[in-house]
Amino acid sequence: MTPLRILMVTAEYTPLAKTGGLADMVAGLSTELANSGHDVRILIPRYRGVEAAGEPLNSLQLPPFATAISPVALDATHPPYELIRRSTGSGPETWQLDAPDFFSGNTIYGGGETEALCFALLSHAALKLCRLLDWAPHIVHCHDWHASLAPLLLNTCRLHEPLFRQSSSVLTIHNIGYQGIFPAPLADRLGLMEPGQLLSPDEPVPATLNFLRAGIASADALTTVSPTHASEVLTPEYGKGLDGLLRQRRNRLVGILNGVDYAHWNPASDPHLPRNYGIGQMDGKPACRTELRKRSGLDDAGGLPVFGMVSRLAAQKGIDLLLQALPPFLRDGACQAVVLGQGDPPYAEALRKLAADMPGRFAFVPAHSESIARLVFAGSDAFLVPSLYEPCGLTQMYALRYGSVPIVRDTGGLHDTVTHFDPHTGMGTGSVFRDADTGGLSWAISQVLDWYGEPAAWQRLRDNGMQADFSWAHQTPHYLALYRRLAGPGAQTS
Ligand code: ADP
Ligand code: GLC
Repeated sequence: MTPLRILMVTAEYTPLAKTGGLADMVAGLSTELANSGHDVRILIPRYRGVEAAGEPLNSLQLPPFATAISPVALDATHPPYELIRRSTGSGPETWQLDAPDFFSGNTIYGGGETEALCFALLSHAALKLCRLLDWAPHIVHCHDWHASLAPLLLNTCRLHEPLFRQSSSVLTIHNIGYQGIFPAPLADRLGLMEPGQLLSPDEPVPATLNFLRAGIASADALTTVSPTHASEVLTPEYGKGLDGLLRQRRNRLVGILNGVDYAHWNPASDPHLPRNYGIGQMDGKPACRTELRKRSGLDDAGGLPVFGMVSRLAAQKGIDLLLQALPPFLRDGACQAVVLGQGDPPYAEALRKLAADMPGRFAFVPAHSESIARLVFAGSDAFLVPSLYEPCGLTQMYALRYGSVPIVRDTGGLHDTVTHFDPHTGMGTGSVFRDADTGGLSWAISQVLDWYGEPAAWQRLRDNGMQADFSWAHQTPHYLALYRRLAGPGAQTS
């Protein structure tokens, strides 16, 4: 088979910039594709403020910048920028869009109207990079709204430029709740040939600029990050105003489950843990629980189960349910809990208050920290993911591998990765509740506490989870099949 040339266009990429699962997903898929012999290149903005301040960059050994193509003046509407290659050795070749006037805040997403210009520039730069390298991609794989103008631009370039004649676009919708919606007049400033194409005529809000909508309307193929979520987005409940358009284009839509890069997510070798452990040799896990209690300020409460959560603090993640369902269990002394998260200030405030009301029993760590996240996966006995919607979700898969039993709502990728445990048959990997209400989550928590009280059942349940295999080696062939279908016969054989 001919190796494919694939360009990933993304706002996040582990370890360069990460707020959530997008970063891990693009890195995991790209690494697996590169290891299988494909020519994979990544384009991501350079966030100078984040590089200077953020733990993810400080804590990782990054190679210095290698090659710069500079400066590129795109057109009259955009500032000059550089495209810089990091020397990565093996694996995907990573390029960064360095535009000093843009992406200069100390967070990845600055919000506001300038974000429209920043991410429009990312899509422009994707095509520019190909031209400068004289590199004809088979696939331009765009991720989320941040890269959603690239399919639109590609459709135009394909008509005029031989370099792109064989190129197809894939748009992966990681999170339909974030669409990149801006005031309509901005469309004229994005340097597009036909800004009108960007304006949404009807939904979700009339006559606004909607990046994700433009991407969905123009990409050659659409994916979501789990099969269940691919059906969900076709409904008004989950489609967030884009379900009508998605139904029109449903023959181009497929759901492919995310994978896990177990080279980086393995309790037997994770360098962030005080002691390593694995299935059949679990001695190290209690040491992780002790360390988690110490670092988060929980009491040393012996064998009392610790519930963990690592999450963006957003309505999507079911924080309201958690705030209602968890306190009675904490008050009764049935468990302890720790939440690591950053996000919406009202949620942070409510969690802070809960921690103040229940010192030693509930801890809230308001930070973004890769090392504490890993300690929560390893040191907790059960892991909470009560999401209202969850396109895939990675934390429940990490929790499974780290022997922390997931408590999840039956939605999206959570439905596809966790099955409710049955102590009679010994089958199942977690506790799954259906209705997004306090009763549902409380029931799921009680189930876990019951199983925890039965050591044989608990060991079986935990072993089932640790053995579950969601590696990228299983998922990547689905992307490859899609890419090859799009690339056509020329790319089928060598
Ligand atoms: P989403 O992408 O919707 O946030 P996922 O479950 O797909 O949800 O991925 C979340 C990723 O972000 C996981 O790798 C999780 O460990 C990480 N994460 C979330 N919050 C934090 C935090 N406060 N500190 C460190 N890592 C975090
Ligand atoms: C999104 C989704 C999450 C998914 C991640 C990576 O942020 O909320 O469910 O796992 O993207 O695809």
